[in-house]
Amino acid sequence: MAAQGLMARKSVADIMSSGEAEGHRLSKTLGPFSIIAMGIGAIIGAGIFVLTGTAAARYAGPAIMLSFVLGGIVCSFVGLCYAELAAMLPVCGSTYTYTYATLGELVAWIIGWDLILEYAMGAATVAVGWSGYMTSLLHNLGVSIPPALAAAPGTAIKLPDGSTVTGILNLPAAVIVAILTTMLIMGTKESARLNNVMVAIKLVVVLAFIALGARYVNPANWHPFIPDNTGTFGSFGLSGVLRGSSVVFFAFIGFDAVSTSAQEAKLPQRDMPIGILGSLVVCTVLYLAVAAVLTGLVPYAQLNVADPIAKGVNVIGLNWFSVLIKIGALTGLTTVILVLLYGQSRILYTIADDGLLPGLFARLHPRLQTPYLSQMLIGLIVAVTAALVPIDVLGELVSIGTLFAFVLVCGAVIYLRRSASETFRPFSVPGVPVVPVLGILFCLLLMAGLPLMTWLRLVVWLAIGMVIYLSYGRTHSRLRGRPATAPLT
Ligand code: ALA
Repeated sequence: MAAQGLMARKSVADIMSSGEAEGHRLSKTLGPFSIIAMGIGAIIGAGIFVLTGTAAARYAGPAIMLSFVLGGIVCSFVGLCYAELAAMLPVCGSTYTYTYATLGELVAWIIGWDLILEYAMGAATVAVGWSGYMTSLLHNLGVSIPPALAAAPGTAIKLPDGSTVTGILNLPAAVIVAILTTMLIMGTKESARLNNVMVAIKLVVVLAFIALGARYVNPANWHPFIPDNTGTFGSFGLSGVLRGSSVVFFAFIGFDAVSTSAQEAKLPQRDMPIGILGSLVVCTVLYLAVAAVLTGLVPYAQLNVADPIAKGVNVIGLNWFSVLIKIGALTGLTTVILVLLYGQSRILYTIADDGLLPGLFARLHPRLQTPYLSQMLIGLIVAVTAALVPIDVLGELVSIGTLFAFVLVCGAVIYLRRSASETFRPFSVPGVPVVPVLGILFCLLLMAGLPLMTWLRLVVWLAIGMVIYLSYGRTHSRLRGRPATAPLT
């Protein structure tokens, strides 16, 4: 009986009746261009503005460009799988919802718990990136935040005079999370128009950096293109390119958000692959160009700073442009944090609505109609994490957690082709099982590029999740006692 509970699946009827199927009522208004814009809005953030510098300086050198190519290829395979699931299931949901309807409750829980790494920890990562650019911008404006109050405890910060101070707390990162959490509780919704303006600002800044920076590139900085391995796995050489890929994979996260618009696409069969792959191609090209210009402007070893793009601009020597870049980066980073904090509360809402988490996470404020308690708790945890943990530790944890979720998504496509072969698929991944299998293998490859410590953190996180499921979720599930063979449709 217990095993049946673990395997219980939601049917589409369950999903419709639990209110997750907003997508079903949404009008089909999105064309490929809007979907690509939405993808770019969710994708470009701390990955390109911060982690490119860290990864070039510590792992790959100028070959960080190759790392971006590998990251783009991995995401294309996964993106195709997302497109099939998103178009097939009439839900406006996340991977959690797809998995519940396909692979059963236990796998859904594991993925939902794992997605906390992508969303909440992702928000913390981007908040730390935001802090780096804000501190730097304030410095331009003559306001100095003590460096020890803008870095995680124990982080060594080199000052311009050559001395070193140790970080105590990343205060600006915690403050931006608190502000955005308050906005979300108050019910601030990003309108499509505001989002388009933000996306435009982000793009203009990135394109301006490429166009202006390209003129000042010193090709000598690209040699050696792949610096020799230092004797440690992941520290330059080919293994460094792989580790660089695993780290900058973070920069691609967000394309999965595109799949949630499947029901609003005019022609899902055509628009989903164009939207997902189109935004991935645009971002990969932009990332490659930014990486080329940045490593061409600044010797890669000097890029391990909180605001690497601004450091690149300093080489050009245009102070006004440096300020503009920082404002643009801050705008872009703010929207990504907002989307991630919002997404996290909605995922927890769905999980709580299924009974796998306490009702607190599904409680709405009587007037504001937002999940205020959940949003507050998420804000608190994200703010504390952003204040205390360095960006590289956070970024790697987000990457491994998201890659793990992607493995399950690719697996779900293969599984469903067998178990629900008759179900109508508005969009089908070409070349099944080759494409999903390649997606799984490439995700595992990138996971293999991450340090052992990151793997241990993932294992501990999943173990905590299992304890919560076994002690709470399993007995409180709304599907308790449902047989394993609940039909898919
Ligand atoms: N891809 C997003 C970023 O780089 C999460 O910030």
